[in-house]
Amino acid sequence: MASWLAGRTVLLTGASEGIGAAMAPILAQRCGRLILTSRRQDRLDKVASPLSCPVRSIAADLSHPAGLDHLLEALEAERVDVLVNNAGAGLGGPFCNREPEELAAMLQLNITSLVMLTRRLLVPMLERREGAVLNVGSMAGFVGVPWLSAYSASKAFVNNFSEGLRTELHGSGVRVCLLAPGTTRTGFFRSAGIAEEKLHRSGQDPEVVARLAVEAIEKDARLAIPGLVNRWQYLALKVVPRSVVLPIARWIFRGAREAPHR
Ligand SMILES: NC(=O)c1ccc[n+]([C@@H]2O[C@H](COP(=O)([O-])OP(=O)(O)OC[C@H]3O[C@@H](n4cnc5c(N)ncnc54)[C@H](OP(=O)(O)O)[C@@H]3O)[C@@H](O)[C@H]2O)c1
Repeated sequence: MASWLAGRTVLLTGASEGIGAAMAPILAQRCGRLILTSRRQDRLDKVASPLSCPVRSIAADLSHPAGLDHLLEALEAERVDVLVNNAGAGLGGPFCNREPEELAAMLQLNITSLVMLTRRLLVPMLERREGAVLNVGSMAGFVGVPWLSAYSASKAFVNNFSEGLRTELHGSGVRVCLLAPGTTRTGFFRSAGIAEEKLHRSGQDPEVVARLAVEAIEKDARLAIPGLVNRWQYLALKVVPRSVVLPIARWIFRGAREAPHR
């Protein structure tokens, strides 16, 4: 059976590395056309070159309003059927050790650019009464994570934004899906300044996460959580008191206390 994505144009943010780079070939096999974006043009070209569908790449830094404006201008004449809001970054370590500018850039990337891109591309989707938005939130958005507190709060925003928007758009013909990965073996922790070895031991491969993400769009899933352990954790977070959960989070993420780890 043909994929729901067949013939559709997909915009994928954060396409140069990690989960996004793993999603690109899976999407390319199923959709009509891909638009890839991230900051690094050379990495986008590398991801794009083996893909099996027409691809356009646009370099833009979504941690600054000017970068978002640049992307929105480049998309002016485009019809985007599916938006994958995957670009995101973390900032590890004691909250007050991070510069205000670093925190503002992360919140712009993880929250404001995601919301504004969705606002811009959703209007024509609603007019056509078809389309999809997949937001990449996080398991970290279901609990406050020590030494990643501003990041986990930004992902709580993404998780709730998705849930609210999906419910609001029920019956509109536009799908809104949330992918909430747990630890995934990408460059994410390195970029966040957190030593990654221990976390990566229990993490998932980005290809596995990427496949579930694409299937979530095809199946119009409200929430996709990769991995049985993460799914159990999600259920546990609903019933286990915070007085038990938070000391466990403190123990799991104790390595992030030492960040920034370069
Ligand atoms: N890895 C995990 O354990 C994990 C767990 C839960 C959720 N997530 C979420 O999954 C998503 C993808 O993360 P990942 O693990 O694949 O991390 P990653 O390997 O570090 O990839 C991040 C992607 O986002 C792009 N990006 C970073 N800063 C950007 C900026 N300022 N402007 C535009 N693009 C930017 C990067 O490209 P450039 O550097 O070229 O800009 C890259 O393509 C993120 O939203 C992250 O929060 C990750």
